[in-house]
Amino acid sequence: LARGVQAPDLAGRHVVVSAGGTREPLDPVRYLGNRSSGKQGYALARTAAARGARVTLVEANTGLPDPAGVDVVHVGTAVQLREAVLKAAADADAVVMAAAVADFRPAAYAEGKIKKKDGVEAPTVPLVRNPDILAEISADRARPGQVIVGFAAETDNVLANGREKLRRKGCDLLVVNEVGEGRTFGSEENEAVVLAADGAETPVPHGPKEALADTVWDLVDPRLR
Ligand code: CTP
Ligand code: CA
Repeated sequence: LARGVQAPDLAGRHVVVSAGGTREPLDPVRYLGNRSSGKQGYALARTAAARGARVTLVEANTGLPDPAGVDVVHVGTAVQLREAVLKAAADADAVVMAAAVADFRPAAYAEGKIKKKDGVEAPTVPLVRNPDILAEISADRARPGQVIVGFAAETDNVLANGREKLRRKGCDLLVVNEVGEGRTFGSEENEAVVLAADGAETPVPHGPKEALADTVWDLVDPRLR
């Protein structure tokens, strides 16, 4: 096959991809967020569609245009992302969690803007844990044999942390990349290692996010039943 032309090996499959980063509102004008651009998730959605899959893309705060031929669900918070992913995963063959989900959200939402007060120190903001969507869908699969993929960005002990995270989350594949100092976030390129629950390790050299996306689908495909 010519470069960039893919066999429709995912024809007849439904895949779900989450992309972007959740925002957890604090008051009407503020939120807790993260630096995920959503580009890797969009590359996964585009490549899956090019390989013939029906694709549901659950998008959080990317500002990116909807890819052609993909069903897009727009969400804001981790709780909304969980709802949308669980709903779409009900009949999915594979779910790829590329979104950066906030681990915590403010315990309370202030209906009015939080104001400074003279003579009062900075407030502390109590946080509560968000649901762990990847762990939940891995432990309680909507379909037998559903393939579940997570992403992990690590700053140090990348492989050891990745192995431990793969085990803890219970997913089939974990794409681990090293972050920090301008790497990965917002960039057009990525470099990663894909760890599999069966022990396989697939290094993906530095290159376009599409190439990493195709490697993920290459690893998902033989695991589909
Ligand atoms: N994830 C999720 N729900 C969460 C947090 C993370 O589904 N509440 C998913 C992400 O989409 C990603 C994977 O879990 O696919 C790993 O995210 P990461 O932040 O690396 O894992 P955590 O378990 O939150 O670990 P850490 O304490 O290192 O942030
Ligand atoms: Ca996290």
